[in-house]
Amino acid sequence: MNAVELDHVTKTFGTTLAVDDLSLHVPAGSIYGFIGPNGSGKTTTLRMVLNIFRPDAGEIRLFGERPHGSRDARVGYLPEERGLYPRMKVREFLWFIGELRSGQARRPDVDAWLERFELTGCTERKIEALSKGMAQKVQFIAAVLGEPKLLVLDEPFSGLDPVNTDVLRRAVLDLRAGGATVVFSTHDMAMAERLCDFIFMIFRGRKVLDGTLTAIQDR
Ligand SMILES: Nc1ncnc2c1ncn2[C@@H]1O[C@H](COP(=O)(O)OP(=O)(O)O)[C@@H](O)[C@H]1O
Ligand SMILES: [Mg+2]
Repeated sequence: MNAVELDHVTKTFGTTLAVDDLSLHVPAGSIYGFIGPNGSGKTTTLRMVLNIFRPDAGEIRLFGERPHGSRDARVGYLPEERGLYPRMKVREFLWFIGELRSGQARRPDVDAWLERFELTGCTERKIEALSKGMAQKVQFIAAVLGEPKLLVLDEPFSGLDPVNTDVLRRAVLDLRAGGATVVFSTHDMAMAERLCDFIFMIFRGRKVLDGTLTAIQDR
């Protein structure tokens, strides 16, 4: 079973060919890293997986189905542009997101995540008053509330210090152990090597490499 399938997907913006005839299969329960320099098409691809953008051509399926409606409750998303709801307080924001996602109160989950990410000291602070790294951790929690089956993380490690990078990396590994599929983008090959089961390398919208970590390291 694949969590995500892209078949010959193409996306243009005006005259820019952002994603060019891309095919990709993400096995359920794996961690799949998208790696490539800025402007290579990672975010555009992730946004198509999320049904934020429609491809010009080709087909995308999540868990074997074509996307329908707007937001899929099975999918959690950490967008590249952070900083939603700057005026809300941390805990209040996460309670709100948790209920929105799952239709039920997720307060114990919120507290457990705040503790895990060492954010218990700033639960009453407004999001706009957090450091970049703290805000990123809060947004990561927002993405995982409601136990998504598929987690899409756009540059989750950018701007994090080594300690927080490690906390986040372990959290991603635990989510996979709990059965989630994780797709994330990075421009850091070392991070991809430490985390991924599969690596997909993209350059100028085209697939350069795609395979298991060990197969790619061998090449
Ligand atoms: N909403 C948009 N409108 C116009 N061009 C876009 C838009 N989003 C991305 N692009 C262009 O598509 C290409 C791929 O961008 P992107 O997917 O953001 O790359 P990456 O995430 O790998 O840095 C770039 O040339 C970028 O300028
Ligand atoms: Mg991007």
